[in-house]
Amino acid sequence: MDRPDWAPERVDIDRPSAARGYDYLLGGSHNFAVDREAAHQAMAMMPDLVMQAQANRAFLYRAVGYLVEAGVRQFLDIGSGVPTVGNVHEVAQRVDPQARVVYVDIDPVAVAHSQAMLAGNPLATVVQEDLRSPAGILGHPEVRRLLDLEAPVGLLMLAMLHAIPDSDQPHRIVGQLRDALAPGSHLAISHATPDGRPDVWERVVQLSGQSSYPLTPRSRSDVERFFSGLELVDPGLVWVPQWRPEHPDDVDGAPEHSSIYAGVGRLT
Ligand SMILES: C[S@@+](CC[C@H](N)C(=O)[O-])C[C@H]1O[C@@H](n2cnc3c(N)ncnc32)[C@H](O)[C@@H]1O
Repeated sequence: MDRPDWAPERVDIDRPSAARGYDYLLGGSHNFAVDREAAHQAMAMMPDLVMQAQANRAFLYRAVGYLVEAGVRQFLDIGSGVPTVGNVHEVAQRVDPQARVVYVDIDPVAVAHSQAMLAGNPLATVVQEDLRSPAGILGHPEVRRLLDLEAPVGLLMLAMLHAIPDSDQPHRIVGQLRDALAPGSHLAISHATPDGRPDVWERVVQLSGQSSYPLTPRSRSDVERFFSGLELVDPGLVWVPQWRPEHPDDVDGAPEHSSIYAGVGRLT
């Protein structure tokens, strides 16, 4: 297929990408036929996938809003994805135009789009880094330039830790990042889980294992362990629609169909 202007040369447009597949689920336009095909295969197994992506994105909006109200003015968003409606800097800078945001993603398409979107915004930037190298993220010149790690930071890892298998020791990595943050910092996580639908997830894990984006959904207790050393703010770790909904009607009778746990922890 022809390469559109926005896809950098180094991007393989014949291999599905999780970032672009997620963009497609959210109704975005930065995806290719391979991404849409992969998304439809996933939807065949998990018909609630679009709702799950929307519920996760809505959590980002509420969590960032909560953190800004709590006084956080700088954000490190790891696994930030292809920019779509309601990005972190838009939510935060609406309240405080001086809020600073560093986006991090491993995917060059996500990074290329973020660069285009952030051109002309001196207080927000994007870096291409891998969560599995926390020192590379924390020591990155752009992170050092924009974020003051002596002051509270909002560390966001939404819908991305399930991309890190246990063999890469994600709990140790999150602990390293947490240890680099100042008191008053917050950690927001959303994470896929098989808890609500073990039969469906067994098949998703099996098939994703043969793809370029293997998934490791985790149990409630395994997700909770990411918050070690932090104090979970109300309402704790819950199904994603249940985390401080804007309206009670936003939570339907089966929030477990979201297949996502969400929580925010505070470093005291
Ligand atoms: C489903 S998207 C989530 C986007 C955004 N955080 C949200 O919740 O709306 C997951 C993102 O994590 C990124 N990702 C996966 N593994 C990563 C890693 N090891 N380091 C950095 N980013 C990673 C993917 O490229 C993708 O853009």
